[in-house]
Amino acid sequence: MVIPQHVAIILDGNGRWAKSKGMPRNYGHVRGAKNLEVICEDAYNMGIKYLTVYLFSTENWKRSKDEVDALMKLFRSYTKTCIKTARDNNMKVRVLGDPTALDQDLQESLKQLVETSKDNTGLNFQIAINYGSRDEIVRAIRKVAADCRDGKLAPEDITEEKFSGYLDTAGVPDPDLLIRTSGEQRLSNYLMWQLAYTEFYFTDVPWPAFTKEDLKKAIEKYNSRERRYGGIKEE
Ligand code: IPE
Ligand code: IPE
Ligand code: MG
Repeated sequence: MVIPQHVAIILDGNGRWAKSKGMPRNYGHVRGAKNLEVICEDAYNMGIKYLTVYLFSTENWKRSKDEVDALMKLFRSYTKTCIKTARDNNMKVRVLGDPTALDQDLQESLKQLVETSKDNTGLNFQIAINYGSRDEIVRAIRKVAADCRDGKLAPEDITEEKFSGYLDTAGVPDPDLLIRTSGEQRLSNYLMWQLAYTEFYFTDVPWPAFTKEDLKKAIEKYNSRERRYGGIKEE
């Protein structure tokens, strides 16, 4: 079985999973964050080199204040745990999204996470937090425009490759496989540039219940597909 080099996940369904158990949505988020630690390790042991997960979208600020506050609290503790996990598991962490809207202390922790893990050579783990693809593209365009204004870049020299280097994912190869849990079949503003040729896999399993077996199923399905611009059938 060919293992995709880069897997991106929209981890969805925390709230519905909790509701089905008669629990509050926030319980679903806590269990979802725990599951992320497990799947991260499973993914690496299976040979996946890059894992990119969607933790909080630019649209998620529209949720109730209680839920947003609980999520931010969870991200604080998750980031702290991740600093240790990255060290223990040799994981290199990158943060996608615009951190400036996050509380100062969370921004600092995220910076520390990226900084302390930058030389690690194990799993490349990207966490998208206050991330939106449109926002990412607009921020990239601003940087491109500033470089053109400052004479560092000529408009005619802008290529797809060069533009990619202005995105939050600069240096990260495009995903081979996208997984969205919990039944919805939409992108919700996730990695729209990077997913141009990615295989999509949708499952009804909600994120907190998603296991290594489910990940294997997604990879098996990926293997059964004929990829025009992927590496899979060429080997
Ligand atoms: C995914 O679960 C986690 C985040 C978006 C933060 P949801 O919170 O979207 O759960 P559902 O989709 O409402 O069940
Ligand atoms: C997408 O899930 C964002 C994350 C998983 C962080 P949502 O649950 O927020 O997306 P919609 O609202 O169903 O499109
Ligand atoms: Mg959802």
